[in-house]
Amino acid sequence: MDQIQHDIILVGGGAAGLRAAIAALEETPRLSVALVSKVYPMRSHTVSAEGGSAAVVRDYDSLELHARDTVKGSDFLADQDAVEAFVAEAPGEIVQIEHWGCPWSRDPDGRVSVRAFGGMSVKRTVYASDKTGFHMLHALFQTSLKYDQLTRDDEFFVTSLLGEDGACRGVVAWDIRGGRFICLVARTVILCTGGAGRIFPFTTNGAIKTGDGMALAYRAGVPLKDMEFVQYHPTGLPGTGILITEASRGEGGYLLNAKGDRFMSEYAPNKKELAARDVISRAIVDEMQAGRTFDGPYGNYVHLDLRHLGEAAINKKLPFVRELTRNYVGLDPVVDPIPVRPVVHYMMGGVHTDMSGSTPLSGLYAAGEVACVTINGANRLGSNSLTECLVFGARAGAAAARYAAEASQPRTESLLQLAAQEERRVREKFLERKGGKERIVDLREEMHRVMESGAGIYRNETDLKETCRVLRDLREKFDHLASIDKEQVFNTELTAVLELDFMIDVAETVAQSALRRHESRGSHARTDYKERDDSRHPNHFLVTHTPEGPRFDDLPVCITRFQPEKRSY
Ligand code: FUM
Repeated sequence: MDQIQHDIILVGGGAAGLRAAIAALEETPRLSVALVSKVYPMRSHTVSAEGGSAAVVRDYDSLELHARDTVKGSDFLADQDAVEAFVAEAPGEIVQIEHWGCPWSRDPDGRVSVRAFGGMSVKRTVYASDKTGFHMLHALFQTSLKYDQLTRDDEFFVTSLLGEDGACRGVVAWDIRGGRFICLVARTVILCTGGAGRIFPFTTNGAIKTGDGMALAYRAGVPLKDMEFVQYHPTGLPGTGILITEASRGEGGYLLNAKGDRFMSEYAPNKKELAARDVISRAIVDEMQAGRTFDGPYGNYVHLDLRHLGEAAINKKLPFVRELTRNYVGLDPVVDPIPVRPVVHYMMGGVHTDMSGSTPLSGLYAAGEVACVTINGANRLGSNSLTECLVFGARAGAAAARYAAEASQPRTESLLQLAAQEERRVREKFLERKGGKERIVDLREEMHRVMESGAGIYRNETDLKETCRVLRDLREKFDHLASIDKEQVFNTELTAVLELDFMIDVAETVAQSALRRHESRGSHARTDYKERDDSRHPNHFLVTHTPEGPRFDDLPVCITRFQPEKRSY
């Protein structure tokens, strides 16, 4: 097996990964950094982010207000020291990425434009029309090209982390195009692989968001944190789940039920369509259950009405929304309301890190959606995540560079042996498999079905127990997979099976964590425990992999200045 050696290996080429790469090389220019991704960086899921990136850039705003909104949005589960660091560093990152070429939309007076977003008290979301992620990713990618010390291994699928003497020392990857395994050795590894929306059937997430980094860390003994908190975005297109950005409501769009009522006035009298996402998603489901929604080929939906904004404003500020609606539902938001329904969008939970992105496994860092610092707690505010990728990507990159500069040289011979074992595992378990009767597609559909029915917007003990039971069965069925394609080059069936393997692990941590949290908080709404319980649960759950099954530990929430209070919008 070929071995490649670097100082830092970054897994994932989206906003967090690219920002971390740049920060690492700015911190210690002599280091060699490899960016390893299962896709080309410009196909990372960041590219599809639409509405904007939050930061305090106006005089009427303040860091305290941004922090307060974020903590309230999190239903008081965010760690407030992390939130305070986040809001303080956010404005600098917004300026920095503009200097790298990100074309922020601007007001006629030349200032960077800001728009309203859910749960934010004031307009503080900067944006590049409604293709913000696309422009940010371009700016980061093009900037990354100037570093000679940065190499890319595109279309490398990481199957496992490599460890030595209790530290992370590289990864084993399947070169999708080359059809071979590679041992990538490093002094330190940073995971920036994004979230795991694909464990659910209906999601805004691209097909690549299969929880790979979460599962890699979990299998290496690193705890995952806050996994019960899964965000539904209120406005996805029925059928495809494609995101219709919250900026539509930020720019003044309404949500209407089948009676033509602006129903959010009942659920969030002050903020209405600009309440936090968990509140709006539950309201839409309540409207569905009350029989006040439309019925379509893909289930119930409500209307997002932009018609009153006018064609000029839609073309200027929401052109992508118009394009998506025309292309995917054959309607034009200038004259038609858009059918929408809640759809899985974001994992608040992820790999447990501190504020520098460091995990409990020495040498392993994580940033972006794969990580849980946590500034998002039980519910993230829209437009905080792109900024989170910048702030904590930069922190993780710089911290990993400092670590790598001090770390000893990895012992390549023993790591190569571990990599060979991993190659044998994957070949024997998947590529050389004969026999079994279980089909990947059936297992994936079963996982989707039970995640939606048990661990969706509303949850209860009976359904969650059933979800956990079925996921355990799926794990057993997974050992009886039918044989798969033996092709070496571009074997997409192999990557699909590796992804499903990761997803089953991640799904189990979500369902098991949700079963244990006996309260309703943010996105975690239990019909059998309807209230938030600050006396019992002012804590994160850490879930650690053990041979006997997931182990749970509590971690207290860090409160600096925002005491928990009733949350309403
Ligand atoms: O609706 C949106 O544009 C999504 C933004 C976000 O999740 O931060």
